[in-house]
Amino acid sequence: MAIKVGLVGTGTVGGGCIDILHNHACDFRRHLGIDVELVRVCSREPEQAAAHGVSDIFTEDWHDIVNDPDIDIVIELIGGTTVARELVLAALAAGKNVVTANKALMATYGKEVMDAAEAAGKELAFEASVGGGIPIIDPLKHSLIANEITSVMGIVNGTTNYMLTEMAERGTDYAEALADAQARGFAEADPTADVGGYDAAAKIAILASIAFNSRVTIEDVFTEGITHVSSIDLEAARDMGYSVKLLAIAHRTDEGIDVRVHPTMIPTSHQLATVNGVMNAIYVVGDAVGETMFFGPGAGAGPAASAVMGDVLEVARHLQQGVLPIVGCTCTDSLPIVPVDD
Ligand code: HSE
Repeated sequence: MAIKVGLVGTGTVGGGCIDILHNHACDFRRHLGIDVELVRVCSREPEQAAAHGVSDIFTEDWHDIVNDPDIDIVIELIGGTTVARELVLAALAAGKNVVTANKALMATYGKEVMDAAEAAGKELAFEASVGGGIPIIDPLKHSLIANEITSVMGIVNGTTNYMLTEMAERGTDYAEALADAQARGFAEADPTADVGGYDAAAKIAILASIAFNSRVTIEDVFTEGITHVSSIDLEAARDMGYSVKLLAIAHRTDEGIDVRVHPTMIPTSHQLATVNGVMNAIYVVGDAVGETMFFGPGAGAGPAASAVMGDVLEVARHLQQGVLPIVGCTCTDSLPIVPVDD
């Protein structure tokens, strides 16, 4: 019997997920043995649902999804931390597994929702919350788990990297570069989250929590965005042999975990200086593995939907095989977090 999926939110990422399901559900069944069916879609925008051919399963009330006893997996793609938090907690309490792309939710209420998942014995998957299409949460949780991670660092906001690249390479002014990133569907609904560094701060809080087995929230991250960076600054930096990137950095130090986001001058010979446009790149350094770098498209419908649907299929596979979820952090000895300085 098919694993039933309900989706809440039909914006850029939600639309991408619907498209993947329409185009590939047969392949998932035939080639992977994973049988998933989208049975309900919720949105405040009926025309978005119509544009993706799901008007027949459309509802305007997310409770219709949470309260549907047939639904196994709820995909939360509405963003924000108020309704999304209520929805995720309600879905878990109703016995649903949840897949979300919501970095603000995970960086602010990560402990609460993960504890709720653990209490409910359900899965809460959030690969798409960081790095768009780049697999990074899963490697940190699984492939690299044997390492003591010493640092996680990188470019985790596609909008600002796109803007900085356009400003540096074409001399595009700040406002035009931002409008262009918005038109391409990279920016948040409120782009202050991108240019102010808060989106990157949420993402590094999530990565640091997993990498250091701790509970880092967005409040713990020193945050400075790119609002004061101009094309002239970028030109001056280039003349001195540097690129300017908005870096998100989490280090293990003697005092604890130090987490920050700020524009950083990087020698043009450094690998991170060559990460341009909407691309993201995340360095992870572990005591056994050494230096690793994860690279790929950090924003946009396809990449984010790829990460969401990867989680959906993995949860569906677990449900089909009767694999019990492993969620949350059972550690009793978390590292301290270095206080934010001004
Ligand atoms: N606004 C985000 C970015 C979208 O530009 O990276 C992906 O999280």
